[in-house]
Amino acid sequence: MINFANKTIDETRQGEAYAGELATEATPGKRFYIESYGCQMNFSDSEIIASILHTEGFGPTQNVEDADLIFLNTCSIREKAEQTVRKRLTEFKKIKKQRPAMLIGVLGCMAERLKSKLLEEEKLVDIVVGPDAYRSLPQLIDEADSGTKAVNVLLSREETYADISPVRLNSNGINAFVSIMRGCNNMCAFCVVPFTRGRERSRDDVSIVAECKDLFEQGYKEVTLLGQNVDSYYWVDPATNHPVDFAMLLEKVAQISPSLRIRFSTSHPKDITDKVLHTMKAHDNICKYIHLPVQSGSTRILQLMNRTYTREWYLAKVKRIKEIMPDCAISADIITGFCTETEQDHEDTLDIMRQSQYEYSYMFAYSERPGTLAAKRYTDDVPDEIKKGRLDEIVKLQNSLSLETNKKDIGKVFEVLIEGNSKKSDKQWMGRNSQNKVMVFDKIENSQLQPGRFVHVIAESCTQGTLMGKIVNLS
Ligand code: SAH
Ligand code: SF4
Ligand code: F3S
Repeated sequence: MINFANKTIDETRQGEAYAGELATEATPGKRFYIESYGCQMNFSDSEIIASILHTEGFGPTQNVEDADLIFLNTCSIREKAEQTVRKRLTEFKKIKKQRPAMLIGVLGCMAERLKSKLLEEEKLVDIVVGPDAYRSLPQLIDEADSGTKAVNVLLSREETYADISPVRLNSNGINAFVSIMRGCNNMCAFCVVPFTRGRERSRDDVSIVAECKDLFEQGYKEVTLLGQNVDSYYWVDPATNHPVDFAMLLEKVAQISPSLRIRFSTSHPKDITDKVLHTMKAHDNICKYIHLPVQSGSTRILQLMNRTYTREWYLAKVKRIKEIMPDCAISADIITGFCTETEQDHEDTLDIMRQSQYEYSYMFAYSERPGTLAAKRYTDDVPDEIKKGRLDEIVKLQNSLSLETNKKDIGKVFEVLIEGNSKKSDKQWMGRNSQNKVMVFDKIENSQLQPGRFVHVIAESCTQGTLMGKIVNLS
């Protein structure tokens, strides 16, 4: 849930095809094509999958027509995410008819949720692999090649793929994502993730720091540490017995270099500690931005959701963040229309948004997921039109909050990491400030100014999604 301007995103990123750096290499043998759906963790997993396949001699392609293997790395978070994948599968039917030897694999969360049922429901699928079983992909491909449908959806308590060096896909060479943990132990009543990703486990700190250092040495300028609940990161070094918590890990990554920016996602409000906040404050290169999903502003709904905090507790956390770091931006995830949600509960959500002054939000209508606590215990009783109406109000409010917070930034100078041309003009750069806000500014005559460079930019005007400004000096 990162890097998006403020808007309703029903599925965050969908169907982005693999265009990795290996695509330019000579690639003998079989070719694979991979498309990723869902959250950043899935995109990060596709980089591990590409690495496993590459080691086994498979070459990448960006063209479905050339592929011997087509993989969809799927998401189950909302019903619509699964429908998108099913629609995509039907599009492959024609290719499969023309080239029956081509294999189709469904990977990721939908594979884990549906297991071998997926083979019955979607006849053209040959391979089904869950998120903890990617090491077995080469064997499964062999099996499928010999005509047997192949499934591995075993979840693991240990697998972190720590030793696999990801192949960076669709990379701009500036920002990279680094998984620091897998799975989730929180049982939020609406959420399918604990079932599709299994138990929470942290990756060893040494391999995380080594990966970040390696990225920095390759020229990357920003790393985002990823986990469903990064604040519960916990690793005990087996040799020394020394524990490493998230604040300590952040500190270690921050110390790689003051010119490597660090972001992280996602923080569960119940787990983010003062220690983490003070570590963020102490290091200029840790970005002053926290994604702190609230889900609802009603304590009654939060309890039904099993979020384990109250409205007051959440607001106190927001206050604490602002006390320690007045310049810290906060964004949220919000679900509207959860089971039994009343008009008053909805008002409470609008109110908590106003009080928290979110810079952005990711806003969703509740979608019941089979097997979750909510599906077992409660009725999905808020009609679709009401969900939609409430979602519209939430989006409208967020748009005005985003505009307000952007207006407050006018006249301020920010350090911005240039990421590329602005969407509208190649005479302008775009980049993000520490608060994760998109800034757009005119290019100036200076050959050193390229994507990957830091510059200081003064904000002069804004829309709800962008700060427009001009360069005041080079960093
Ligand atoms: N681990 C992260 C994000 C998990 S999924 C966290 O705890 O914040 C991202 C977001 O999808 C969630 O925060 C939630 O707002 C939304 N989401 C999850 N399950 C959903 C469902 N069944 N219906 C609608 N939105 C859902
Ligand atoms: Fe889902 Fe809750 Fe875990 Fe996030 S913390 S992945 S919402 S169960
Ligand atoms: Fe989707 Fe799985 Fe991520 S369900 S949001 S891809 S963890």
